[in-house]
Amino acid sequence: MSDAFRPQVLAGKVVFIAGASSGINLGIARRLHAEGAKVAIASRKHDKITAAAASIAPDVLGLAADVRDYAGIEAALRTAHDRFGPIDILVSGAAGNFLAPALGMSANAFKTVIDIDLIGTFNVLRAGFEFLNKPGASAISITAPQGERPAMFQAHACAAKAGINMLTQCLGMEWGPLGVRVNAISPGPIADTEGMARLAPTPEMEAMVKGRLALRDYGTKDDIAEAVIWLATGASRYVTGTVIDVDGGARLGDARSPI
Ligand code: HXC
Ligand code: NAP
Repeated sequence: MSDAFRPQVLAGKVVFIAGASSGINLGIARRLHAEGAKVAIASRKHDKITAAAASIAPDVLGLAADVRDYAGIEAALRTAHDRFGPIDILVSGAAGNFLAPALGMSANAFKTVIDIDLIGTFNVLRAGFEFLNKPGASAISITAPQGERPAMFQAHACAAKAGINMLTQCLGMEWGPLGVRVNAISPGPIADTEGMARLAPTPEMEAMVKGRLALRDYGTKDDIAEAVIWLATGASRYVTGTVIDVDGGARLGDARSPI
């Protein structure tokens, strides 16, 4: 069937995505909009988020808010709710990361990543709960394989993502009876992202990362958007409190040798 005649699976659904001025989360926003959703996106920088929204379509709402600022993110959620109505799909994907050994991190460096990734995810989900379309809403956090598997020079991000994985399970238990499913998606290395530019900045490092992966290649932003769509629809109605790995096998470790 030509795309022009394919039904849009999220027609009329309201989506709020935190941390979507670039990368994977902007890719998710673009894809969900193409599936008929009404989309609001948020990130820290006004110019960046406004341009990102405009790059999708004029009806996409771009809102400046720092996930570390509870009142700020709550105000952005309220604005989206007032514009589009109750939120069906809430995505928490803001993150900060840099390679540094623990001994090269100040207390504030460690805290900064915990604040953005873990506390920020709590803030988005906690503030977002009030604005969700209940029962039936789906809350989705973006985690990483490093939340299950340690990595060199990533103590801050590993600890933060591990916290997100546990938060997902706890809120899955608490909010299931209230009509909200809470899950996370764990992307492996995704092509053309700031994350991989920071973690594997040279062609040699990129080749090394791919060579160790079971599926031997980077994923795409669309691979992650597909998982969001699944978690957003009735196809996943009996799924909560879990992490969906869309990672080419990254969480499994080095897929080259027996030890
Ligand atoms: C050591 C560093 C550092 C580095 C910053 N810091 N970079 N320490 N090595 N390379 C320290 C600073 O010196 C400071 O500590 C503290 O961290 C806070 O830095 P700020 O620049 O003041 O913070 P802020 O402006 O809030 O910026 C946050 C940021 C920045 C994380 C540092 O890089 C950012 O805005 N990132 C957003 C985009 C991003 O990272 N995207 C990639 C996500 S990839 P002091 O002590 O000096 O005050 C991803 C991949 C997941 O998440 C897969 C792995 C889990
Ligand atoms: P990215 O393009 O840098 O995306 C991060 C987003 O978060 C940006 O839109 C940034 O926008 C926003 N942000 C950062 N700090 C914020 C804050 N305090 N408040 C609000 N927004 C904030 O990186 P990416 O690589 O696509 O990563 C996206 C997500 O996927 C992250 O959760 C990351 O951990 C996860 N992930 C990525 C990979 C990968 O291969 N790239 C692998 C596993 C997991 P502003 O600068 O405008 O605020």
